Amino acid sequence: MIDILPIHTQRTTASRLATLDADHLEFGKLFSDHMFVVDYRDGEWQDAQIVPYGDMTVSPANSALHYGQAIFEGMKAYHQTDGGVALFRPLDNWARLNSSAERMCMPTIPEELFMQGLSELIRLDAAWVPDAPGCALYIRPFMFATDGFIGVRPSDSYRFIIFTCPVGLYFNKPLRVRFEQKYVRSAEGGAGYAKNAGNYGAAMYPTKLAQLEGYNQLIWTDASEHRFVEESGTMNAIFVIDGRVVTPALSTSILDGVTRRSVLQLARDMGMVVEERKVSSVEVMDALAAGRLEEAFGAGTAATIAPIATIGYEGQDYDLPVPGPNAFSKRVAAALEAIRNGQAADSHGWMVRV
Ligand code: COI
Repeated sequence: MIDILPIHTQRTTASRLATLDADHLEFGKLFSDHMFVVDYRDGEWQDAQIVPYGDMTVSPANSALHYGQAIFEGMKAYHQTDGGVALFRPLDNWARLNSSAERMCMPTIPEELFMQGLSELIRLDAAWVPDAPGCALYIRPFMFATDGFIGVRPSDSYRFIIFTCPVGLYFNKPLRVRFEQKYVRSAEGGAGYAKNAGNYGAAMYPTKLAQLEGYNQLIWTDASEHRFVEESGTMNAIFVIDGRVVTPALSTSILDGVTRRSVLQLARDMGMVVEERKVSSVEVMDALAAGRLEEAFGAGTAATIAPIATIGYEGQDYDLPVPGPNAFSKRVAAALEAIRNGQAADSHGWMVRV
């Protein structure tokens, strides 16, 4: 196993930085100049390089394309008030990537290789980190199988890449979501906790049906009874009921979100009661009807804190109260933003300077 792998850097001769329009950033459309690439062959990671972002050649027979042996992460780097750049909880993403890798029979990445590739890439493309409020450099680490072989077995070779995109808000207004009570994102014992590509591909059709009905996202429910909340779209779901922060407990079917974890920590820091447990759709709708559901929001790296304005349930839409200036979702979003930009003390040691 390697500790430090030399990274060969080939800088772009045609930077696209001038096309960066920080006032009109759309999520995931513009990519920074470089990407980090490293291959896994013969049982070890090798040929680490930073190269200009661009297309690449892969075998059309690779098992990522045929059988979904592909995993990814989503993380962000933030502009600091003193002009520097810092990553938010990168080791949490590294650990989750490796947990996904294990579930998908893929090799894990050593911490040093992940952090070294990431830090060198972000340093090189530091000018791409937007500094407007709410903006950040979204970082997409991912790994996929590369063997040219269509037998169904884990690939022997893999490629790990990190590329980045300057981004603004993923959702620009409060969300309309509805409980999904027919389709399933993931079942207990499945791979829902892993960030593997297939979880997202399989969610597209039910999500599209909901979007045709005017919703932005679904609230997924459990596979066996469709009673309990799992996640909301690409985010973890968090509710404030009677002043308590309530969210589904983690399981093999729920992604262990880094934003979710951070929100719960900040809630505890603020002295709030946090309950990680089963949350049924009936509990949420009863609390809404009784005026006890104060807030509902999604939490995710891309989505940040995305307030929910309307919930669809059994064919009817129900509006949530409009969050006031002191709403938990607003306070926690501001607290996170202040830590991420270096304006507030980082008392949990979440930020890593590059
Ligand atoms: C993220 O929040 O980073 C995600 O993975 C959501 C993404 C699929 C847009």
